[in-house]
Amino acid sequence: MGLTRLRGFQDLIGPDARAASIVEERARAVARRYNLSEIRIPMMERIQLYQHSTGETSDIVTKQMYVVRRSDEGAGTDDMVLRPEGTPSVVRAYIEAGLDRRDPYQRYYYLGPMLRYERPQKGRYRQFNQFGVEIFGRADAASDAELMIMIDDLTHELGLQVRFEINSLGCDEPNCRPAFRAALLEFGRAHLKELCEDCHQRLERNPLRILDCKIDGDRIAEAAPKSLDYLCDECRKHFDDVKQFLSRRAVPFVVKPNLVRGLDYYTRTAFEVVSASVGAQSAIAAGGRYDGLVKELGGAAVPGTGFAIGIERTALALQASESKFDAHPRVALVGLGDQGNLAAMSLAHDLRERDLPVELLPTDRKLKAALTIASRMGAAFIVIIGENEIARGVVQLRDLRASTQREVAQGEVAEAIRKAADALPPD
Ligand code: HAM
Repeated sequence: MGLTRLRGFQDLIGPDARAASIVEERARAVARRYNLSEIRIPMMERIQLYQHSTGETSDIVTKQMYVVRRSDEGAGTDDMVLRPEGTPSVVRAYIEAGLDRRDPYQRYYYLGPMLRYERPQKGRYRQFNQFGVEIFGRADAASDAELMIMIDDLTHELGLQVRFEINSLGCDEPNCRPAFRAALLEFGRAHLKELCEDCHQRLERNPLRILDCKIDGDRIAEAAPKSLDYLCDECRKHFDDVKQFLSRRAVPFVVKPNLVRGLDYYTRTAFEVVSASVGAQSAIAAGGRYDGLVKELGGAAVPGTGFAIGIERTALALQASESKFDAHPRVALVGLGDQGNLAAMSLAHDLRERDLPVELLPTDRKLKAALTIASRMGAAFIVIIGENEIARGVVQLRDLRASTQREVAQGEVAEAIRKAADALPPD
């Protein structure tokens, strides 16, 4: 038995972990600015939750769920699932707290790992993190648009170039969806020979699924009827309004009539956010409206809309971009001799209080060894303090990028570092 990590699972170390954290930190900050409240959901749910929401014919439910069983139990209806996505849990929690009836208008965000048994490749993992947003009680087009504007804000802040692909799938009942489903069914039956084995099954149960067939979905979707041609007047107006809001805010979008999404709950608006810099797995975020889901899961008839950002994919895009994030220069500090060490410890504390990232270097080495460590850790500055400096109330401040060194008064070190850092181009 090799004690290696499982296929599709990742260790993120150093800069890779940092890139993911930056995306998460920025996403939380944007959520705060949009006045969303946090919701923390369990890692595991009953299997039925996903069957009734994500969809019994979806790839996630049919092929990708990690089903968990206690070691003393056999298979059965009590099966539990490690969450493959967050939306079903958030809807369940909202209903379970009675909010759908008591106080239906709610706006949430969440952050955490999801698990899907997928074929791993760059940007596609079996465990990945999502930052998700779910809004309940808003049926208007402005709330759909605002979600995309929120993602646009975040990607701008991260310095990423993205494109929004949007579509409308129409409403469930009684208007557009039944006619669209019937047209798809007719199309599918007429093209049965061109559909894969799986799609033969899917067609009768949920004809929409043939449009995201992994084998030939793009070609089928190209030829098949389009939901946009079946929209009722209200759905068409809703979609036109979404587009208008996006145009007004200059969000870069294209209408993609083939976009269906692989999850069953969407109604009206569906969208994906695509980045050119992460290779084949280019969707860094996706979402849409789900007006029937709260009711489907046993709650009141409350509309919902939301999205989720893939943290790892966004981090990959970030690492491929030119954006620089560590605005604070890193500082190495070394004390020489016993008194120097004590003084270095106090000075490190002062600098950290002023928000500078400071690393106190080992004191049992020669100065030369300390300099080597400082440059390996990517420090921009090294501060040296020995008995001589203490006696005179100064430190030696060495700028490692400019290769200069000067004496600075102990109380002015932070200021001197900030000034010198501002004068240098970012690394
Ligand atoms: P989704 O399209 O399945 O939607 O996932 C959203 C995002 O999560 C994707 O665009 C992608 O960035 C990331 N993602 C998905 N699968 C993987 C994977 N295997 N590896 C890495 N990243 C991945 C949902 O999950 C819906 N719950 C979104 C939503 C929220 N709709 C309404 N509210």
